[in-house]
Amino acid sequence: MPVLSTRAASLQQSAIRKLDALVRRQVGVRFHRLNIGQPDVPTPAPLLEAIAAFQPEVVAYGPASGLPECREAAAAYHARWSPGLRAAHVVATVGGSEALLFSFTAVCDPGDELLVLEPYYTNYNGFATVAGAVVRPIRTHLHDGFAIPSDEVLDAAVTERTRAIVFSNPANPTGAVYGEDELRRLLRWATRHDLFVISDEVYRQIWFEEPPTSALSIEEHADRVLVIDSLSKTYSACGLRLGFLISRNLDFMEKVERLGQARLGPQPLAQHVGIAALQLDDSYYASIRRIYRERVTVMMAALDQLPGVSAPHPRGAFYTMVELPVDDTERFARFLVEAFRSDGESVVVAPGGGFYAAPESGAQKIRLAAVTEAPQLQRAVEVLGEALIAYAG
Ligand SMILES: Cc1ncc(COP(=O)(O)O)c(C=O)c1O
Repeated sequence: MPVLSTRAASLQQSAIRKLDALVRRQVGVRFHRLNIGQPDVPTPAPLLEAIAAFQPEVVAYGPASGLPECREAAAAYHARWSPGLRAAHVVATVGGSEALLFSFTAVCDPGDELLVLEPYYTNYNGFATVAGAVVRPIRTHLHDGFAIPSDEVLDAAVTERTRAIVFSNPANPTGAVYGEDELRRLLRWATRHDLFVISDEVYRQIWFEEPPTSALSIEEHADRVLVIDSLSKTYSACGLRLGFLISRNLDFMEKVERLGQARLGPQPLAQHVGIAALQLDDSYYASIRRIYRERVTVMMAALDQLPGVSAPHPRGAFYTMVELPVDDTERFARFLVEAFRSDGESVVVAPGGGFYAAPESGAQKIRLAAVTEAPQLQRAVEVLGEALIAYAG
């Protein structure tokens, strides 16, 4: 047999998708699917209208970095927080995912290292593997709200192969939101070590107390900042596959343009829809914050009722990492899918291991996503509580 590459062999199966095959084999069960960040919030009408209005004679390639009008719309949108952004600072990508892959690839040679605040979005592992990069986790903790660790802790993680520090803000899966002081400190630290800062801001409109600070808004260190954005969560348009990679570093952007040329270009349809999305007014963003605030509040209140269970209250995004009184949440998650039923219902959860570089660190945790309506979330957490009792017995 021909041999597959080490990269292919070392790709982990996404923790979030892992259970899907098992779920598909179950018959007649009503599953609460809280394992994946796919909201059920309707996609706003102007986006659906833009899809219907897209009637080209030829569905042609577009430019590698995206349609100029889409890049301009994204620059104008981000200029609300980061004045002076222009189309040249924005590349349209196939989801935030491709923006992450491009940024990891553009800053890392094989064997180079990315510091990643942990727990972290599990697919960073896959992008790093494809880019040939190594993830070096930096643990953040519930007791201080998953704050960015001190300069001394960060210093200790740097080696001569370190190229960038990566985090999401608001954070998936912790719900942390990083503000201006924390980011200024991080940027000063990154400047000291001459590292890139990759700030994944795909949840930037979903916050409950204070808004996150965009890393790009801090101009002094702008050359080293790479921001990831996406339409998926903000506009409930995960299937559109449109994201953005944004940086004021034009040398970096030129290399990203070349990466983009290799795959020709992102979908013109998605970009037309993107233009409509980026022109929605502030009341739209306030409305999604209301929706997620209600959901998260209900989910957390229900979780707080469960004995032996602890979970941080998210300050943004729509996830929480729940600590359960079980030893191996991977087994517990399978038990939920295959064996446990409450009135024909069960819950699909994401086992915590996939959010840590060393999966055993998440063995007692699961991640829940507030992606269904409040009453369903409440019921889902009740079912989870019943399942914990059944599992212990
Ligand atoms: C933190 C984070 N970044 C990036 C993505 C990728 O999103 P997409 O490729 O749909 O834009 C996700 C999706 O869940 C995410 O949670």
